[in-house]
Amino acid sequence: MKRSKRFEKLDRRPINQDSFVAEWPEGGLSAMGSPYDPLPGIRIEDGRIVEMDGKAYEDFDSLELFIAEHGINLEMAEQAMALKPQEIARWIVDINVKREEVIRITTAITPAKMLQVVRCLNAVEMMMGQMKMRVRRTPANQAIVTNIKDNPALLAADAAEAALRGFSEIETTCAVSRYAPLNALSILVGGQTCRGGVLTQCSMEESLEVRMGMLGLTSYAETVSLYGTEAAMDDGDDTIWSKAFLASVYASRGMKMRFTSGTGAEVLLGHSNQKSMLYLEILCVYLARSCGAQGVQNGSISCIGITTAVPEGFLAIAAENLVVSLLDMEVASGNDQTFSHSDMRRTAKLLMQMMPGTDFITSGYSATPNFDDLFAGSNTDCDDYDDYYMIQRDMQIDGGIEPILEKDAITARNKAAKACQAVFKGLGLPIITDEEVEAATYAYCNEEMPPRNMAKDLVAAQEFFNQGVNAIDIVKALYQGGFTRVGDNVLKMLKERVCGDYLQVATIFDKDFKTVSGLNDSNDYQGPGTGYRLQGERWEKLKKKTTALVPDTILEKQGVLDKKKGFYKLTEERNAEAGEADVVVGISPAFANRATAEEIYHNHYRILEKILEGVEEAGMSTAVVKIYHTDDLAEIAKLSAGFSKTGIGIGIQSKGMVRINHADHIAEDSLEVSFHMPFSSFSLFKEIGINAVEYARGSKPLRVSDKIKPGGLTSYQIAMIKLSSDETAFINRRKKPTRMLLNI
Ligand code: 5AD
Ligand code: CA
Repeated sequence: MKRSKRFEKLDRRPINQDSFVAEWPEGGLSAMGSPYDPLPGIRIEDGRIVEMDGKAYEDFDSLELFIAEHGINLEMAEQAMALKPQEIARWIVDINVKREEVIRITTAITPAKMLQVVRCLNAVEMMMGQMKMRVRRTPANQAIVTNIKDNPALLAADAAEAALRGFSEIETTCAVSRYAPLNALSILVGGQTCRGGVLTQCSMEESLEVRMGMLGLTSYAETVSLYGTEAAMDDGDDTIWSKAFLASVYASRGMKMRFTSGTGAEVLLGHSNQKSMLYLEILCVYLARSCGAQGVQNGSISCIGITTAVPEGFLAIAAENLVVSLLDMEVASGNDQTFSHSDMRRTAKLLMQMMPGTDFITSGYSATPNFDDLFAGSNTDCDDYDDYYMIQRDMQIDGGIEPILEKDAITARNKAAKACQAVFKGLGLPIITDEEVEAATYAYCNEEMPPRNMAKDLVAAQEFFNQGVNAIDIVKALYQGGFTRVGDNVLKMLKERVCGDYLQVATIFDKDFKTVSGLNDSNDYQGPGTGYRLQGERWEKLKKKTTALVPDTILEKQGVLDKKKGFYKLTEERNAEAGEADVVVGISPAFANRATAEEIYHNHYRILEKILEGVEEAGMSTAVVKIYHTDDLAEIAKLSAGFSKTGIGIGIQSKGMVRINHADHIAEDSLEVSFHMPFSSFSLFKEIGINAVEYARGSKPLRVSDKIKPGGLTSYQIAMIKLSSDETAFINRRKKPTRMLLNI
C-alpha cells in the first residue's frame, strides 16, 4: 500500500511505542468489568453473612471468608445493599451529601456492589469523588530515593533534597539486597536533615522490613502486597491471615503501614479467574480494610503496563484509588511507575490523581533520574519537577511539593551527605570520603559518584545489622559528629513511635513536626469554597517560579549584549529635516527607551542596527528619526517618509509593528505592514530594510515572514502589556521629530 505521509509520521510518535491489547475477559484482560464478575447480594443471619455476591458461606474461599467476617459494616449492610448503585454513585459526587454519610453506606456494601457503584462514574465524576472522599484534607506526596550503586552519600543527599521539596514520605530499596540496612540508614539521616518528620521506608522482603522497622531504621512500611485471588496470594507463600498478622506486627510496634495492591497483578500472575482487574482489586482493598490497615498503596503500581494496555485503564485506576477512600482508608495513589512513551499520556494519567488530590498523589515520585530508580522508573522523575510545579501553578492545585532554590538544595544535600559521613564514621562503617560528599552535593545521578568498595560495604552492612545497631546509636553518632539538630529529629521519630499518634489514618508530619491526619485534618469538602483550598502562604510558595531566566543570560545567548562591547546607545542630534537620507527609519516614543521591558529594550538597538544594515547593503543611505508626538504607527511611517529623499520611510513601534510608507500616500495606505516580535530572529529586520530599498526603486519585494517560537508568544504578550502602556506614556506632544545617532 502506498503510505500516507501523515500516517507514517503518526506511526513514529512516542504513543505508538506503547503496547495496547484488546479486551479478553476470559483471560482476565478487562479493566472495569467482566461478564464473569459476580453480581451483588447479601444475606445476613444471626449477625453473620451467610451469602455474599452470589456465593453461600460454605463456598467462600479464604479471601471471601475474611472479607465476610471482618470487612463489612453489618449494621448498615441490608439497608445499603438495597440502594441502587447509581444512587450511591450520585451521593459520592453530590456536594450536599457529607463524606461521613457516604462512608456509612460504602463501608456496608459488598465488593460486587462496590464495583457496580464505581462503574456508574465517568472520569470527571471519579475525580470529583476522589476530591471529596479522600481521608486527609491536605494532599501530600511520596518520593522514591534510590540509585543503582546504592551509594550512601548520594542517597542521603537525595533524601534531603526530596524533604526540602516537601515530600512527606520517602521510600528506598536496593540494588543488592544485603545493602538494605545501609540504604535505610542513609535516607533516614538525609530525610531528617533539613526538617524533621519525613517518614521513611525501605522496600524489601517482608521479614527484613519488619526487622529494619524494629531497629528504628525505618518509620513506615508499604510494600506488603495483597492479591485478589487465593492462587495469586499463594504464589507469594502467603495467606490473608499471615498478611493480617504482619499488619498487626507493625501497628503493635508503633509503625505506620499500608498494604500494596493494584489492578493487573492477578492477570500477570496468571490467576485472574476470568474476573475483571477492577473487581479483583476491589477485593484487595476490602482485604486491607478487613486486616484493620489504615491505608493502601494502589493504582496498578508495578502492573500499570497491563491495566493501561486495555480500554478504560485510567478509569479503572482512578476507580481503585477511589475505592480505598470509599472504605475510609488512606490512599497512596500510584503514578510510581513508567508506563508510556508519550508525555501527553503520562500527564493525562497523573492529572486524574493530581487534580482532585489524594493522600499521596504519587506513591513514588522518582527524586532521581529514572535510570537510577530501582523501582523501574516512575511516571515522574527529577527532570519533571519544573513541569510539575507549573501544573500546580497553572491550575492552583497542590500536588504536594514546592519549588526550591538551587542554593538551598546544594546546602541541604551537602549537610545530609556530611551527616551521613559522620554516622558511618561513628558506627565504624566503611568511611564516606570528602570526595564522595562533594560529588553527592552536586550530582545529577550515580555516574558522578566516585566508586566505593561494595564488597566492604556489604560485609559491614551485615555486621551492623546482626549486631542490632539501632536508631539510638545513629542519634549518638550524629551528636558526636556535631549534627545535633539532625540527631534530635531522628530521636523524635523514635519518640513518635512510642506515642503512636502517627498510627492515625493518613498521618504525615508537617513542617513543624506536627501530625496531620484524617483525625485532626479530616476532609470536609462539600462543594465550592469548602475543603482543602490552595491559598495563603502555601499558594504564595507554589506560585513562585524559581527557574526564572536571568535576562542578561538570555541577551548574551541571543548576542544582543556583547559584554565586551557593551550596549548600543542612541543620542539626539537635532530636529529632523527634509532629505535626511534615501530611506528614513522612524521610531516610536518608547522605542529603545530605557523604561521599556528590559529584554526588549536591549533588542530594540539590535533591531535598528539590522534595519539600517539592510538598507545600506541594498545600496541606499539611511537615517533614524525619533517621533515623540504620536504613537500612531501609520503616522510615524508617513512622517519619516517625508524626511527621506526617495519618499520611502519605515516606521517601527516598540512592540514590533512595522510599516513602510510612501510620503505621497495617505498614512493608512502603507506599502507594507508587518508584525515581528521584538525578539524574533534579527535577520528578519534586515529583510525589512532591504524591502524598503526595493520599494524606493519601484520593484515589488517579497514578504517578510516571522516565525513564532514555542512559548515565545506568551513571554511576548507579557512584555507587550508594558510596551503598549509605555508607548502612550512617553508621548511628548510638544517635541519635534528628532534626528538620532546610533552608536555602539
Ligand atoms: N499488587 C500487589 N503488589 C504490588 N506491588 C507492586 N505492584 C503491585 C500490585 N499490583 C508491590 C510488590 C513489589 C513492590 C514494589 O510493590 O510487593 O515488590
Ligand atoms: Ca511507594
